Amino acid sequence: MNTIDFLVRKDQLAVTELRETPEDSLNEGQVRLTVEKFALTSNNITYAAFGDAMNYWGFYPAENGWGRIPVWGFGRVVESQHSAVSVGEKFYGYYPMSSSVVLQPARPSDEGFFDGAEHRATLHPVYNNYARCSADPFYTPPTEDVQALLRPLFITSWLIDDFLADNNFFGANDNGPGLMLLSSASSKTAYGTAFQLAQRRGIEVIGLTSAANLDFCRSLGCYHRVLPYDQLDHVAKDAACVYVDFAGNAGLRKAIHTRFANLKYSSSIGGTHVAQLGGAKDLPGPRATLFFAPAQIKKRNAEWGADILGQRLLQAWQGFVAKVGDPVAPWLVVEHHVGPDAVKTAYAEVLGGHSDPRVGHMLSLAANTPA
Ligand SMILES: NC(=O)c1ccc[n+]([C@@H]2O[C@H](COP(=O)([O-])OP(=O)(O)OC[C@H]3O[C@@H](n4cnc5c(N)ncnc54)[C@H](OP(=O)(O)O)[C@@H]3O)[C@@H](O)[C@H]2O)c1
Repeated sequence: MNTIDFLVRKDQLAVTELRETPEDSLNEGQVRLTVEKFALTSNNITYAAFGDAMNYWGFYPAENGWGRIPVWGFGRVVESQHSAVSVGEKFYGYYPMSSSVVLQPARPSDEGFFDGAEHRATLHPVYNNYARCSADPFYTPPTEDVQALLRPLFITSWLIDDFLADNNFFGANDNGPGLMLLSSASSKTAYGTAFQLAQRRGIEVIGLTSAANLDFCRSLGCYHRVLPYDQLDHVAKDAACVYVDFAGNAGLRKAIHTRFANLKYSSSIGGTHVAQLGGAKDLPGPRATLFFAPAQIKKRNAEWGADILGQRLLQAWQGFVAKVGDPVAPWLVVEHHVGPDAVKTAYAEVLGGHSDPRVGHMLSLAANTPA
């Protein structure tokens, strides 16, 4: 059998190649999984854009300037040389954009395993963990696509909301409702954050988005107000506010820091505006601070214990999934792209940022994979 890898040039993300190579035979302790399906969103493009700086290329190395972008999805074991992992089992986790992958299970448990491959030893454990679907409380067969598309994003959304509330919104609501300004409001991670923030009192959630995505953001109902990027002047310049930045757009960040004299905190979450990324030095107001989700998880684990944290996340997730999949007005409509050519086209669309924000792209390079 051959495996198909989708490769991108690390320094030119629009240059791609589909490479087919014979599968290596397994060593003792290894397993082979078919990557049945995976989600592709701006989050994965951000992994690539920050691939060198944050070592995202390190998970699935490729040679000579090429990279394999990590994606969230489902794999099924088709060959096993490990006694704790059986052929036929399904795992949720962090895969390459490939038709199959070889992993080396370590620390196996009922819940799953960690990939113990040497080159991943120094990478963050959250990305090395593979959850056994048969024992995973988040897993239900009908929500597989939604899980691949939203689960890693919503966990971040939940943690951002929790972090802001935990810090009393940095004093933004001390004298009346504080404004939470969310850029790339149409992104899944931003609207997940707004969904959580909307359940809080004493704050107003304002979505900032491009003109093309205004109607979509307004249709969600989780933002108190939605404004296009060029209408910051519709918000009072002395408003007490917090900037929650999913776009990473240097010009927008500067405009926000310059306009809002009462900016209490500036949180850098993402970089959807890949062509406008830039540094945050010498800005007026608070320092733009990178949001580090694992730090908030660690804090809550210590304060609440892993079980309570897990239960709260699961409960919030179930509420979110019900909203997103509303049969009358769904926030997310899934499109499947199966096969090498379809994957290539979907990648170009997501990279270019021209996708309908209501569409979630599910991809597969594996043959005979059910949608
Ligand atoms: N720090 C963390 O732990 C963490 C975790 C999860 C996600 N994130 C980050 O959050 C961001 C959102 O990810 P997502 O997967 O939720 O995004 P998504 O749903 O795929 O977002 C799509 C939206 O992003 C904007 N966009 C995408 N590509 C663009 C382009 N080429 N040019 C201009 N705008 C573009 C557009 O929004 P607008 O028109 O509204 O701007 C578009 O509607 C990513 O940067 C991701 O890395 C960070």
